[in-house]
Amino acid sequence: MCGIVGYIGKRHALPIILDGLKRLEYRGYDSSGVAILTDDGLIVRRKKGKIKDLIEVVGHETINGTTGLGHTRWATHGKPSDENAHPHRAGDVVVIHNGIIENYTELRAMLKDRGHHFKSETDTEIIAHLIEDHIKSGEPFEQAVLASVNQLRGSFALGVLYAKNPDKLIAVREASPLVLGFGNSENIFASDMPAILPYTNKMLFMNDGTMAVITAEDVKLFDFTGSPLPVNPKQFDISPAMAEKGGYKHFMQKEIFEQPQAITDTMRDRLLFDKKEIDLKEAGIDGKIMHALKRINFVACGTSYHAGLTGKYIIEEMTGIPVDVDVASEFRYKTPLVGNETLTIAISQSGETADTLAALRLAKKHGSHVLSICNVIDSTIARESDHVLYTHAGPEISVASTKAFTAQLITIYLLAIHIGRGLGRISKQQAAVYIDTLVTIPSLLDTLLKQEDLLVSIAKEYARYSDFLYLGRGISYPVALEGALKLKEISYVHAEGYPAGEIKHGPIALVNKDMPVVFIAVKGKVYEKIKNNMEEVKARDGKIISFTNTGNNEIQNLSDSFFLLPEIDELFTPILSIVPLQLLAYHIAVINGTDVDQPKNLAKSVTVE
Ligand code: G6P
Repeated sequence: MCGIVGYIGKRHALPIILDGLKRLEYRGYDSSGVAILTDDGLIVRRKKGKIKDLIEVVGHETINGTTGLGHTRWATHGKPSDENAHPHRAGDVVVIHNGIIENYTELRAMLKDRGHHFKSETDTEIIAHLIEDHIKSGEPFEQAVLASVNQLRGSFALGVLYAKNPDKLIAVREASPLVLGFGNSENIFASDMPAILPYTNKMLFMNDGTMAVITAEDVKLFDFTGSPLPVNPKQFDISPAMAEKGGYKHFMQKEIFEQPQAITDTMRDRLLFDKKEIDLKEAGIDGKIMHALKRINFVACGTSYHAGLTGKYIIEEMTGIPVDVDVASEFRYKTPLVGNETLTIAISQSGETADTLAALRLAKKHGSHVLSICNVIDSTIARESDHVLYTHAGPEISVASTKAFTAQLITIYLLAIHIGRGLGRISKQQAAVYIDTLVTIPSLLDTLLKQEDLLVSIAKEYARYSDFLYLGRGISYPVALEGALKLKEISYVHAEGYPAGEIKHGPIALVNKDMPVVFIAVKGKVYEKIKNNMEEVKARDGKIISFTNTGNNEIQNLSDSFFLLPEIDELFTPILSIVPLQLLAYHIAVINGTDVDQPKNLAKSVTVE
C-alpha cells in the first residue's frame, strides 16, 4: 500500500522518480506527488488521481535537480485529494510515508501546542513536523529523524529530505517494506524492486527498526538507537524487462500467459525427473520434524489464502496429515493452537502482507515450525520464517494475482509429495506417477491458453450480467472461490464462490435467468453429484457456464456455454481449471472497460492491518 521512491545522484531526479512511481503504481494509485531539490529551492507537486495526472502537472514545468522523493498513495487516513497526497512538508523538511502512524492524534495535538499548523488530514504530515521540531531544537538532521521515529508507533517506511542538507536523503523502515539500490555515484530506494531494477541489480532489503543515510556515493545503516549496522547488498538476477508488459495489453494478461514458464521455473531443480524424486531439502522439514508432525496450518490472505484452501485437499490426500487453513487476519487474533508438532505455512506472493506476517510471528512465538511460500526474494515474511520455498514466478505486477497462485499450488504439490514420501505414505511408484503428472502441466497449460478466443466469446456473452455464482465441489471448491474473487476484483461484478452441494441451503434462492452460474465440473469423485447440482440450477432457469472435460455430453448439454479442460488426475485439476477462469474474468473486465491492472480501492501489497 503506497509506493515510495527516493533518488540521489548525478542524473535528473524527476524522470527517474516518475518512472519509479509508474512501476510502483500497483501499490496504490489514488494520488501521487514528488519533491525535487533544485537550484531555486525545494519544489513539491502533488496531484489527486493517477501518476499520469501528476505527469501532466509537472510536464509543463522545468524542474531540474539530482535529488528527490516521490510517492503514489493508497489512502488510509484522509480521503484521496491534492492536499492529502504526499510528499508532506514542514518548512524545509519533506516526508513520504507508507504505513500507518497509530499515535498520530496525540502527536498532532502535542505539535499543535508547540505552534505547528497542519494542512492535511493525514497521519504522515505529523512526521514532517516532528522532524522539523527536532531540527528547530538544534538537533542535526540524522538525530532529528532518529528521535522522531522513536516517538512513532505503527508501521512506516519513510523517505526524508531536508533542503538544508541537500547532499543526503534518509530512508527508514519499521514494518513496511523498503529496498535500497546501490548504483555508480547514484543511489535509489523504493518500496519494491521494479522501481530500482532499471538502474541497478545491487540491492538490500532493509530490516525493521533501521535507518539508512544515503548520499550519491555512500549508504550508511543504523538501528533506532543510532548504532551503525553492516551494509551488505546482494546482486539480484532479475531484469527490468521482467517487470514490463512485453506487448500484452495488461500485466494481468501477460502474467496469465507466463504461467507455464512460472510453473516450470518453480519446479526446476526440485523435481528430479530422471530419478522420479522430489528434492526439497530447502524446506527444512527433516525426518524428525516430519514424524512428529500432528498438524499443518496455512495462514494467508486473498488469493494466497485460496492456495492454502486448495493445499488442504492436496496435503491431506497425499500425506494423511490434518490441515487447517486460516485467513491471516483471523488467525492473528485467535488463541493459536500450535506448537512444535505443528508446521505453520505462510503463503504470500509479496512476502510483505501485514496480517500474514503477524500470523507467522504469532505461530513462531508459540513454538510452531514456520515455513513460508513466497514469491519475492528476501521479503520480510521470507526472512522471518525458519525456512522458505520461493515460487519462481518472476515479478507479479497486476493487482489481481494469477501466476503467483499457480506457482504456489505447484510448490504445495512438491511439498506434499516430499512429506508423503518422507512419512512413507506415498510409495516410490505413486511418487513417480505424481511427478509424471506435474511435468505435463506446463504443456497442458500452453494448449489451454491457445483457446483464449473461446473465452473472449464467452466473456462477450456474459459481461452485461451483474451477479455470478461460482460452484465447485471437493478440490474444485477453492477454485470456485478464486474464480469468483478474480471477477469481482477487476470487473466490480458481484460474484460469489460456493460449494456446489450447499446451494440448496441458500444461494439457489437467487438463481434465475439473470444469474450466470459457473460450474467447475471436472472428472472425479463428485462428477455425478455436480451434474445433479447443474440440473437444479437448470430447473430454475439459471444460465450455466461449465468448465469440464471432454466426453461428458450430459454436462455439455446442460450448459449454455462450456469450456473443455484437458484431463488430468483430479488432485491436480485446480492448476488447470483456474486458468480459464482468470481469462474469463480478465476479458469481462476488458469489455466493461475497467482499469484491469489497478482496480479501484485495491492494492497489490497490503502492508497495513
Ligand atoms: C492483496 C492483493 C491480492 C493478494 C493479497 C495477498 O489483496 O490484491 O492479489 O492475493 O493481497 O497478498 P500476498 O502478497 O500476501 O500474497
